[in-house]
Amino acid sequence: MEEQTNVTYDVSVIRPEVNEGQIGFRGQGFPPVRLAGIRKGLLTLHTLELMAATIYRFQIRAGQRDDLNLRLIGAMCNEMTHYQDFQVKLAEYGFKPNCLRWAFWLVGFALGFGSRLLGPRSILKTGVWVESKAVHHYAQLLASIEWDADTRRIIEKDQADEAAHIARWKQML
Ligand SMILES: [Fe+2]
Ligand SMILES: [Fe+2]
Repeated sequence: MEEQTNVTYDVSVIRPEVNEGQIGFRGQGFPPVRLAGIRKGLLTLHTLELMAATIYRFQIRAGQRDDLNLRLIGAMCNEMTHYQDFQVKLAEYGFKPNCLRWAFWLVGFALGFGSRLLGPRSILKTGVWVESKAVHHYAQLLASIEWDADTRRIIEKDQADEAAHIARWKQML
């Protein structure tokens, strides 16, 4: 099992730059059991990030030029980036995304739209709740799966982003 990289991540970067050189085929020569673990983990992360991006998308109150909306737009951009991170990794490994992920879009819509109707406190509380689940999930997947080093770094950065989201929403509550 690979060790945790002891890197600190800059969570003020909500969409890190990706160069052509960073795109590549992955997983050649990996034993099938390792590939199966990576595939399962990537599918989980891809669908969870779709849900997260959709929650923030529907929490944004159109036309409100306040601090909460500004933070939600930033969080949505960040989650869309996470979603793309895992879509790219799935493709690099030669895996297909989960064709049932629209169900996660629906859950994201329900949570995002529902909490927006209930008001700002509910928006923030939903954020804390969902992101806490995400951080926990990230920790489990980091500990239990033998990732390649590049993918592990992306997962760690995204996990740091989720922790920053929790801190932000808690501070605003
Ligand atoms: Fe995320
Ligand atoms: Fe997040």
